[in-house]
Amino acid sequence: MRILSTTTICLILSSCLAGSSAVPTLERRQTGCDSALWNRVKGAIMEQFGSRPCSPLGRAAIRLYFHDAGTYDTKDDTGGPNGSVMRFDSEANQPQNNHLRDVILALRTVYDRFSGQVSRADIINLAGLLGTQSCPGGASIPFFIGRKDSTTPDDASRLPGDTEPMDNIISKFQRQGLTNKQLAALIGAHTTGKRFSSPPSEPVNGNAGLAFDSTPEVWDLNYYNETLQQPTSPPLGQTRIQVDVAISRDPRTKNEFARYVTDFDGWTKDFTEAMVVMGKFGRANANLIKCDGVVPAAIPLPGGNPTPGNNGLGNGNGGGNGNGNGNGNGKGIGGTGGVALALPASGTF
Ligand code: HEM
Repeated sequence: MRILSTTTICLILSSCLAGSSAVPTLERRQTGCDSALWNRVKGAIMEQFGSRPCSPLGRAAIRLYFHDAGTYDTKDDTGGPNGSVMRFDSEANQPQNNHLRDVILALRTVYDRFSGQVSRADIINLAGLLGTQSCPGGASIPFFIGRKDSTTPDDASRLPGDTEPMDNIISKFQRQGLTNKQLAALIGAHTTGKRFSSPPSEPVNGNAGLAFDSTPEVWDLNYYNETLQQPTSPPLGQTRIQVDVAISRDPRTKNEFARYVTDFDGWTKDFTEAMVVMGKFGRANANLIKCDGVVPAAIPLPGGNPTPGNNGLGNGNGGGNGNGNGNGNGKGIGGTGGVALALPASGTF
């Protein structure tokens, strides 16, 4: 009788070493897209996100996508989308990964249900795409599978920090192989952003966080518009982080940043392409397999997506009715349709 090797037995049982974060797990190269399997994985992820569109865990998954992939170094082909941030506490606990704990724990429960069948890296990828799509207006980004999990942690200090000088931010994106245009497009994910962790000098409204724009649960152009219009002293409940203002002002990124204020389709296209590039970092990921039919179609913005040249932010008649200190500017940029949105007058801007 033929004696089966441990590896073969593990392949049959599909569960050897499941759930352990310290030892290498079974990793199997995908040879095709099993859409029934991936739809079950999607269901498990969405269960974790909850029924609310653009939920806190969904938004955190978008950030996690970047934090797994963004450690990539083109020079030595290390780091990248390899599941290490989910697998190794030592990486998850680095300060750059603050406030990602909840989404990592949620996705570990998904992995435990499917370990041996899918990798952590592919789960993080799908979760980031579903997080994006679940926000009204969020792009439906193509999903590719076949990433392998790393057996060693990456160094999260390769990720850019929000108070780093622009030269560092740009060189950290270049190290990953991303252009300045892609930086300006990707940072638009902060349209759904909230800040939870901060220096002690800056209170952040506890678990509710402080939003980066007036509509943190909608994938719209307000982040670009409001960062430009109100770079300091944003309205109550919002904050601006240094990196966002820096990208909106730096000569290497400001033109793209400003262009996106009135180009929803252009931003969606550039963002989508950059997300796919990030998800394929690494020579081992050159031949990932496209897995259609898993990420649903985009949900249009309430009132319809803005058209090119019209950001749908209204025609500027909404401000100045607050406490008498407002400047009454309404922040409209030639909008005649879309989401008529009047920004609250900040009174200090
Ligand atoms: C220069 C690069 C970037 C820096 C310095 C940066 C920094 C930050 C910081 C400080 C926060 C707040 C985290 C907290 O307090 O919990 C945040 C939130 C967020 N970031 Fe970034 N980020 C960058 C790029 C990106 C990219 C490329 C994406 C995705 C494509 C992204 C997606 C998000 C999302 C979705 C949130 C909100 C998370 C939530 O609400 O839980 N960021 N980012």
